[in-house]
Amino acid sequence: MAKLWGGRFSKNTDAFAEGFHSSISFDSRLYKEDITGSIAHAKMLGKQGIIEAHEAEKIVQGLEGILADIEAGKVHFSPHDEDIHMNIERLLIDRIGDAGKRLHTGRSRNDQVALDFRMYMKKENTAVIREIANLIQVLLQIARENLDTIIPAYTHLQKAQPSTLAHYMMAYAQMFSRDIERFQAAYGHADSMPLGSGALCTTTYPLDREYVAQQLGFHEITPNSLDAVSDRDFALEFLSAASICMMHLSRFCEEMILWSSGEFAFVSMDDAFSTGSSIMPQKKNPDMAELIRGKTGRVYGSLMTLLTVMKGLPLAYNKDMQEDKECTFDAADTLLSCLKVFTGMIRTAVFKKENLYATAGKGFTNATDAADYLVKKGMPFRDAHAVLGRIVVYCEGKGQGISDLTLEELKEFSDVFEEDVYENVSLEACVSKRTLPGGPARESVLAHIHSLEKFLSGLD
Ligand code: ARG
Repeated sequence: MAKLWGGRFSKNTDAFAEGFHSSISFDSRLYKEDITGSIAHAKMLGKQGIIEAHEAEKIVQGLEGILADIEAGKVHFSPHDEDIHMNIERLLIDRIGDAGKRLHTGRSRNDQVALDFRMYMKKENTAVIREIANLIQVLLQIARENLDTIIPAYTHLQKAQPSTLAHYMMAYAQMFSRDIERFQAAYGHADSMPLGSGALCTTTYPLDREYVAQQLGFHEITPNSLDAVSDRDFALEFLSAASICMMHLSRFCEEMILWSSGEFAFVSMDDAFSTGSSIMPQKKNPDMAELIRGKTGRVYGSLMTLLTVMKGLPLAYNKDMQEDKECTFDAADTLLSCLKVFTGMIRTAVFKKENLYATAGKGFTNATDAADYLVKKGMPFRDAHAVLGRIVVYCEGKGQGISDLTLEELKEFSDVFEEDVYENVSLEACVSKRTLPGGPARESVLAHIHSLEKFLSGLD
């Protein structure tokens, strides 16, 4: 069977080389975008009188039939026709004859693949944004239920100051809300319609690009044809947003892995999201969290793949760019499944409030507040810091906390201490006095919850 582009060729493609350059094994997933794009193109050709109206009609019907057959599993694609674009064109010509040969008028696979990929990535961005929004909803719910659940907060993985589980969850919720904004931006750059760019320098047919853009739900048309056929920024932006989102998931997973260890014992993962050991009967492992952490590397790899593919390419289209799809599809699939699993895992996790509270009370997490107490009574902060440093060393020697010391003992370090020190350095006080915007006090966290609720409701 001759190639659709075979006119100037006198030999068949080498059999191994054919398999090597064919992309149908992975770009077949663009079938719907390809057919929808071709239908819009055919309608436009008919409307503009570039092909006869009845031919346009025949093409549209033929393409609709092919779409239905693909979805019913009745179509077999072949590497002989290289990619999804030529497989579908071949099917169309086989089915409707000469009218089918007019579909590719004023079009190249270069602008066609750019169109299909952009349409597909708009869909993936939307799906990812929906999954992240679901995850944020779960985090907001955990936060609402834990406004007063005191936890130890860390810097350098050393206990630092008390916070609340709500404040902690909202930190991740904020990170994920930025991810949504990044995917919205990636969507925005994909939302530009490239058809009409032709192979690279447009075409002489009087195409109506705006009409095609409207039919396909694009918000604008690409303004330069050389750029339009060689631009994969929208995929790079998706991969970059995906990498950052995976990094956020990975950090969260890392903490849940630590927190579920016997040493921390702050959380217990539901059995439905844990696995056992084939030899050690006692084991319950946080495999889901570990796997998400691991898959982060794979998504970063996809970003590096495409950045590297693109870095030396002269304008305009080059076949190298066919390497844009597998890595991007794999990253999108990976991210979507990680988001789904993570959301289920965190929604069903049980936080051990007593351990969180008990641990928050250790490690002198109220030392800053004890120093601030002295400052509020007039002592310069540096002096107060030094006083507390000495108190901490003394407490370490006795195996006690700051508020376990008697007032007499405290007065040995500074006579500024009075009876009211105790109520000022309790864990509850440390949290409830941090009412600044962004802080862990109930009202501050509630304000943050409300602002993210508003952000989410603005998405639909
Ligand atoms: N399969 C190709 C790709 O994914 C489609 C465009 C091919 N264009 C060409 N002139 N070879 O990039």
